[in-house]
Amino acid sequence: MVTRKRSALFVPASNAKALAKAAMLGADAIILDLEDAVSPSEKETARAAALRALGAGDWTAPLRAVRINALSSPWGEGDVLALASERLDALVIPKVESATMLRQVRQVMTRAVLVPGRSRPALWAMVETPRGILNVREIATSANELGLSTLIVGTNDLAKELRCDGLGQNREALLNHLSRLVLVARSYGLDVLDGVYNAFDDLDGFTREAEQGRRLGFDGKTLIHPAQIVPANTIFGPNQIEIKHAKAIVRAFGLKKNLGKGVINMGGQMIERLHLQEAQVLLDSIPARAAKPVRVPVRKSGKKKS
Ligand code: COA
Ligand code: MG
Repeated sequence: MVTRKRSALFVPASNAKALAKAAMLGADAIILDLEDAVSPSEKETARAAALRALGAGDWTAPLRAVRINALSSPWGEGDVLALASERLDALVIPKVESATMLRQVRQVMTRAVLVPGRSRPALWAMVETPRGILNVREIATSANELGLSTLIVGTNDLAKELRCDGLGQNREALLNHLSRLVLVARSYGLDVLDGVYNAFDDLDGFTREAEQGRRLGFDGKTLIHPAQIVPANTIFGPNQIEIKHAKAIVRAFGLKKNLGKGVINMGGQMIERLHLQEAQVLLDSIPARAAKPVRVPVRKSGKKKS
């Protein structure tokens, strides 16, 4: 069974209300954030709050991750030491520009006590700087050695560093870089997640961008608000039409008359064995029982309840 990453929600570990909801939201992955969403004065308390949240309650998200601060910051090493032994699926490393940066994180991880029976978290690398984009192939080449499983494009930082318009015109200014990440991820067997959509009260805009991400080949999208979870899960699917089509392909290749054939005619469409493989991967990705999503509507700005 493949663990899907259609939706990966950032939750600032310094926001008690958001953190309290994190365990019950229906995202495929929750990323507790200690980095950009947390101000310097809140770093230590946010780390403690993240550790408490990870230790409490039944989590509905299949994957739990924490985004740490860079090792070059005053908090990065402490983050890694505190989290490397937690029941955690991944450490998300910000602004990765080389395999060496990930190797350094791994080295710090070896200094943390390993709880018997627990494995070390995987690394998910955020690629969000020009050098990160340039070096992403070198980073991916070392994926096995480093326990790197996932690339995430950080579109806000990338657009800022490139001084380009990362949001306008269908993200035209970022398209080369987004495709490069997908190309590298597919070449080295990594998952790859698209960047966040900032206007969380514009679900039409979110849908357009997420659909573009899926067309480009991303496995899912990183999110900033719970209202984005349901649309992301739907868009990165598979949807009912795709499931039906995949089942029809498996059925057709199973027919006696088609046994041993490399290519068949299915209702006027050429279907090859590569489509059969694709269909099987799609069907294998569907869990037997999906977690029920919790809906959190967007509140209109400025109208806080309390
Ligand atoms: N995770 C969990 N819960 C969240 C959430 C998130 N990312 N974003 C909002 N919520 C909760 C709120 O706490 C609120 O709960 P409440 O009703 O108990 O107060 C509810 O969802 C509705 O939120 P809303 O009022 O629409 O938004 P907000 O003003 O509270 O928050 C942001 C807006 C942008 C500040 C918030 O969504 C956020 O911090 N997102 C993540 C930012 C981040 O991690 N950035 C770094 C990566 S790019
Ligand atoms: Mg960033």
